[in-house]
Amino acid sequence: MGTGANLGISLLDLKVYHIPWIYTPVRTVLAIWHQLTKTEIPELAKCSVLMRERSRVEETIHAMQRAGAGSLQVISDFDMTLTRFAHNGKRVPTTHNILDNRLLINEDCTRKMRELLNTYYPIEIDASRSAEEKLPLMVEWWTKVHELLIEQKIRRDMLAHAVKESSAMLRDGYKVFFECLAEHQVPLLIFSAGVGDVLEEVIRQNHVFHPNIHIISNYMDFDQTGVLQAFKGQLIHTFNKREGALSHAAGLRELQGRPNVVLMGDSLGDLTMADGVSEPQNVLTIGFLNDQVEERKESYINSFDVVLVKDETLDIPNAILRYITSSRDECGGMMTLLLSPVQTPSRAWSMPEITYPIPM
Ligand code: TMP
Ligand code: MG
Repeated sequence: MGTGANLGISLLDLKVYHIPWIYTPVRTVLAIWHQLTKTEIPELAKCSVLMRERSRVEETIHAMQRAGAGSLQVISDFDMTLTRFAHNGKRVPTTHNILDNRLLINEDCTRKMRELLNTYYPIEIDASRSAEEKLPLMVEWWTKVHELLIEQKIRRDMLAHAVKESSAMLRDGYKVFFECLAEHQVPLLIFSAGVGDVLEEVIRQNHVFHPNIHIISNYMDFDQTGVLQAFKGQLIHTFNKREGALSHAAGLRELQGRPNVVLMGDSLGDLTMADGVSEPQNVLTIGFLNDQVEERKESYINSFDVVLVKDETLDIPNAILRYITSSRDECGGMMTLLLSPVQTPSRAWSMPEITYPIPM
């Protein structure tokens, strides 16, 4: 990024790190140099980027960079955070809305799901209501939709077709995002109140379901013949992610010992996704403000460290991650390129306490 980093690279090229007695003084000088120059990530100067406290953001990013990729984890929401909000003036479907396909559900179910969306989505994003007020209404929305889906006897083997036929789209720059994290072996926890099976299929079809990915979501429970019979575990909606964070994310071995967190979301409810991280040191929250911008701007600026207004790309998270994972990445280049990122073992979690709905 800036001159400090450039100085680091040229010293590395000179192989001064190979002389043991010079290692500590050189690192100290570099650290002081960093503090003095405090270079910016140029992308943060875009007018779509809002920050309450720019200096805190810079300090956090610098601290994360000094700690290196080995101390970092990324926790991200999925719908409308990793996926686009709109494309060519049309809304991009969420994982629930991808299921709106005649291969899976009938016309009557489509109509009912749309009515529910029109009723409850405005409540979800209503800036004048508190999270406490919204919570029971979100439970109502998700419960009704899941009941409708179960009635449709959705077949597991049709899900991939529905995703293929949908206009689901990850944000521009998604390849760089997923590959940067995989290359540096930074765990990515995708924490979604959407439908886990659909989410997996979206990232699989985009060829970015790398081994560093962990998912907490609402997973479908299929019977022996492959027909949807329930949803597994405790329901996850936009405003109860804290419970999932405490009961599941906290237990994920791969996330242990990584006290620096980049958290990404599009809802204020997403801010609790890092509540399961034990002894966090640096947490940087990035919020996508997609909709109802004027009404929600103030609360987003007060709640997220970085707010991205109507930005359909992952350019800012990518620039931040590029910086954090730079220079300390000693194994870098060739070694990480050799790591094949394609296999996709089951790394999915849903909240297991209650089967929803409770089977008769
Ligand atoms: P997320 O946690 O991955 O963002 O997924 C939750 C989003 O899903 C939330 O913003 C609302 C949306 N949603 C629908 O679009 N349709 C539905 O039927 C339901 C229940 C939720
Ligand atoms: Mg979302």
